Amino acid sequence: MTKRKIRVGILFGGRSGEHEVSLTSAQGIMKAIDKDKYEVVPIGITKEGRWITGGDPMKELRAAADLPPALAATADQEAEASQTVLVPLEPRRAALTTSGAPLELDVIFPVLHGPYGEDGTVQGFLELTGLPYVGAGVTASAVGMDKAIAKNVFRAHGLPVLPYRVFLRRVWESDPAGVIAECEAALRYPMFTKPANLGSSVGISKAHNRQELTAGLDEAARYDRKLIVEQGIEAREIEVSVLGNDDPIASVPGEIVPSREFYSYAAKYIDDASELLIPAPISAEQTEQVRRLAIEAYKAVDCAGMARVDFLMDKATGNIWLNEIDTIPGFTPISMYPKLWEATGISYTELIDRLIQLALERHEDKRRSATSFDVTRAT
Ligand SMILES: Nc1ncnc2c1ncn2[C@@H]1O[C@H](COP(=O)(O)OP(=O)(O)O)[C@@H](O)[C@H]1O
Ligand SMILES: [Mg+2]
Repeated sequence: MTKRKIRVGILFGGRSGEHEVSLTSAQGIMKAIDKDKYEVVPIGITKEGRWITGGDPMKELRAAADLPPALAATADQEAEASQTVLVPLEPRRAALTTSGAPLELDVIFPVLHGPYGEDGTVQGFLELTGLPYVGAGVTASAVGMDKAIAKNVFRAHGLPVLPYRVFLRRVWESDPAGVIAECEAALRYPMFTKPANLGSSVGISKAHNRQELTAGLDEAARYDRKLIVEQGIEAREIEVSVLGNDDPIASVPGEIVPSREFYSYAAKYIDDASELLIPAPISAEQTEQVRRLAIEAYKAVDCAGMARVDFLMDKATGNIWLNEIDTIPGFTPISMYPKLWEATGISYTELIDRLIQLALERHEDKRRSATSFDVTRAT
């Protein structure tokens, strides 16, 4: 008798500016996943938040997407799709009902970048269904997504983060002079302005003077109600991949050499000219330091499954600053996260397998925790 394959729902697309990146990551995973062990069930989420299964959700989403050159490939054609809801069935399973017929799943692999995908919302929804899912839980996802909260957590753990200020959009709009004065008192130019909750460098600017700081804050305020102004440095960009649940491991570090003044959206996805150096050409000591810090950052936010931890290394002093943790990093076969594992000895296909197994393990571990309180134990 052949063993039933594990049914993996791959969730992609989604309501974020990184919809297109998600499509490319999910395509890579669906292509490379071990088909003897896993059965793939593609689940697309449109930019409006509609979940589609049946037909070919990938084709449908790619046809509707606005793919930048580095992500573009062929795609049009329509496919039949159906409105879908995910409903819990029993502790280990849930069902996607499509046109009335339930679609059973054993585990979900969310390949969604940015808000409404990587920020704990989808994770919370999956918790409610009772289904195991790949990657970080609600807390780590939400903390990792919010750069302001993440920095506070990292600081509380004694991890090195660059000086920064956080402002509400409302405050920026009502008292711009006060905000500028506070930034100029605390930080030097250049400064980086960022929306707190986003990714792919959307809404991020480098300000060399007061005029650019004003423009940068206005730009960031288009995307979020919370804005960050951070000390800018001349930096090398070093990244480490982390994998695991309670006992995570770190990959060899990699370095990104951006094609522009900083690793902007254009440098990431439009030029297609930024270079990845693997392993990063840094000293053995620096390598050990970033690997250790990556694991500390991972544990600080109570991450699970995977994350890419990004650092900025001051070109002048060699000082290493923790920049951010990305709980669903780019996952195309040529993305940094899987490439670093490949260089560390874990192939793309094996990585996908490990992540799914980690999801199942974590789910089992969670099921061990009591969900009701036995009054006879009361003291
Ligand atoms: N404080 C800083 N000093 C120098 N460069 C920075 C700084 N903050 C961000 N950058 C540049 O901007 C890029 C995007 O910022 P980041 O905080 O990583 O946001 P995202 O989540 O969009 O990737 C970084 O990869 C880096 O090139
Ligand atoms: Mg980044």
